[in-house]
Amino acid sequence: KAIGVCNFMEHHLEELMNEAQVKPVVDQVEFHPRLYQENLLRYCQDRDILLEAWSPLARGNYFDEPVLQELAAHYEKTAAQIILRWHWQLGIIIIPKSSNKDRQEQNADLFDFSLTNEEMEKISALQTGERIGKHPDEFDYFG
Ligand SMILES: NC(=O)c1ccc[n+]([C@@H]2O[C@H](COP(=O)([O-])OP(=O)(O)OC[C@H]3O[C@@H](n4cnc5c(N)ncnc54)[C@H](OP(=O)(O)O)[C@@H]3O)[C@@H](O)[C@H]2O)c1
Repeated sequence: KAIGVCNFMEHHLEELMNEAQVKPVVDQVEFHPRLYQENLLRYCQDRDILLEAWSPLARGNYFDEPVLQELAAHYEKTAAQIILRWHWQLGIIIIPKSSNKDRQEQNADLFDFSLTNEEMEKISALQTGERIGKHPDEFDYFG
């Protein structure tokens, strides 16, 4: 009844929607502050396709970013919670992975604070294009 796609960029979605009868409801892509894919987000939101972030925490690679640390201290939250709240306010589904019960609970405890527009922009400005995984155009699907 509902189709999901994964690692689709705008041009993959265009190609799909030119051919398919059924529009996907969700596109799961790598998405975190250093990989803030603003154009893809807007493209999906304009077409009622939900964006779902894989590796939303970038596997913790940059929890020590000063912007994240400052906001974490201000809201008495962790850098992980600041990142996940940023996704949430952008309207993005998040699937953080944790094998630790306390961190799982922490990752769900995002709803007693709110980032201001200015704070959201500061987090989005961490964008560098850094990826955990490969660029979707560089996957070797047949290798
Ligand atoms: N579709 C795709 O191509 C694709 C590709 C990659 C991943 N994924 C999916 O995306 C999901 C998450 O991605 P991911 O595991 O790569 O990255 P992630 O969720 O960004 O990061 C997971 C790492 O962060 C740690 N962590 C989690 N919560 C934390 C917290 N509150 N504080 C400190 N550290 C925390 C975890 O350690 P602990 O476990 O020790 O807490 C783990 O090392 C997975 O379900 C995965 O299957 C999909």
